[in-house]
Amino acid sequence: MTDVLGTTGLILNEPLLWEKGKRGRRGFSLPVRDVEVSPLEESLASSGPDFPDLSEVDVVRHFTRLSTWNFGVDTGTYPLGSCTMKYNPKINDKQAALPGFSGAHPLLPQELSQGLLSLMFELERMLAEITGMDAVSLQPSAGAQGELTGMLLIHAYHKSRGRKPSKILVPDTAHGTNPASAALCGYRPIPVASNDKGILSVENVAKAMDEDTAGIMITNPNTLGLFEENLKDIVDLVHAKDGLVYGDGANMNAVLGIMDVGCTGLDVLHLNLHKTFSTPHGGGGPGAGPVCVKRHLEPFLPVPRVVEKEGKYTLSGDFAQTIGRLHAFYGNVGIMIRAYSYIRTMGAANLKRASQLAVLNANYIKDRLKATYHLPYDRPCMHECVFTDKNQAGAKVMTLDIAKRLMDYGFHPPTIYFPLVVSGAIMIEPTETECKEDLDRLIAALQAIAEEAKSNPEQLHHAPTRTKLRRLDEVSAARKPVLVG
Ligand SMILES: Cc1ncc(COP(=O)(O)O)c(C=O)c1O
Repeated sequence: MTDVLGTTGLILNEPLLWEKGKRGRRGFSLPVRDVEVSPLEESLASSGPDFPDLSEVDVVRHFTRLSTWNFGVDTGTYPLGSCTMKYNPKINDKQAALPGFSGAHPLLPQELSQGLLSLMFELERMLAEITGMDAVSLQPSAGAQGELTGMLLIHAYHKSRGRKPSKILVPDTAHGTNPASAALCGYRPIPVASNDKGILSVENVAKAMDEDTAGIMITNPNTLGLFEENLKDIVDLVHAKDGLVYGDGANMNAVLGIMDVGCTGLDVLHLNLHKTFSTPHGGGGPGAGPVCVKRHLEPFLPVPRVVEKEGKYTLSGDFAQTIGRLHAFYGNVGIMIRAYSYIRTMGAANLKRASQLAVLNANYIKDRLKATYHLPYDRPCMHECVFTDKNQAGAKVMTLDIAKRLMDYGFHPPTIYFPLVVSGAIMIEPTETECKEDLDRLIAALQAIAEEAKSNPEQLHHAPTRTKLRRLDEVSAARKPVLVG
């Protein structure tokens, strides 16, 4: 409920700085001038940009208030499936802020960047070891750019063998970026239906695979949170038809230290450092989508590459078959430092434990809630589980209502209406960093919402009711964002 001033308790109304400004207000006070005035050079004299006149306290309060409207992993449970909003340890930020790292200019001579270059080199080696692949490029700055890189590598590989296949297979459970990346590379994405267990079947892949197909993109665990049990047979089948297998490793956080991707025969894999290796993301911030390849794809990796010779590190562009450059300089280095710090502080045993706990937490939620919410694939899951609104639909309560109401209980909503193969999907990824008490609170909130769906469904159509802004017109909000209410 808002008051006459338009505020909700201590959540104050926030005008734009332009609305708040008053001519003549100042955020500084300079000593009285004691030098002669000399006229400005004509070329520099103008009325200047249209900035509002504000005091220091106006500006500080404005930005501090806006920051309190945010909800992030540091605020509370954020079970956004597929996005892996796990807690980002502060030690990683501290390492990235070390003056030698944060002050390093990208144009610094390489002799003066040996520390940073050796960190990148070591991070590449660590990611190669974790995945079981042979070589790595840290350059792509998002998962989707890693996918595009992988597609370009596959394209370059076929071209080097005189082949020009035009299609690529993409399962119907794939993240939307997969077919988009394939199309951006000029491939026609061919959808492959998952089976009644929610995974790929050898038969469905065999039906779609032919000599004009460059390969297949497989996300494992897939976006239903299920392990692709037929992976090895599918890899063999695709290889037998001269295709390559692309692994979307964005969900690697479920299988660290458990699955050796290299052994499954995948040719190329991307990782999301901003998911699996706990670097901050959301709000379109910088990410990193390193690409890991087997030896036969290494010649095509993007340049520059970090090269070590007799203990000295250089960035080298000297690779004749490279697909070229994908990013200015060498990618989002601050993210690489954080991921490096995460891997080093965790160590091999704890990375494995993180995956085990992520899987345990998701299965706990799945089992505790399956009597309340419809579970389309009732089998052990990996790091996330997918419910639907089927049990609540009779009361005309939809997935959107459930997600919105969860905000009134103090939780960020889960991912909804994705993956597309599940109608009314509610995709929960608790991550390993939530303790049992917080998982129990989330479960209790979802159970309470299911009760409200029976006793007072109308209430849910108006949710959220305890937030600064109420139910938004989501289409207009996305197309014409207005950031104050
Ligand atoms: C399975 C999967 N693939 C690809 C991506 C794309 O990654 P990005 O958002 O960094 O482009 C995501 C993102 O969450 C994902 O979950």
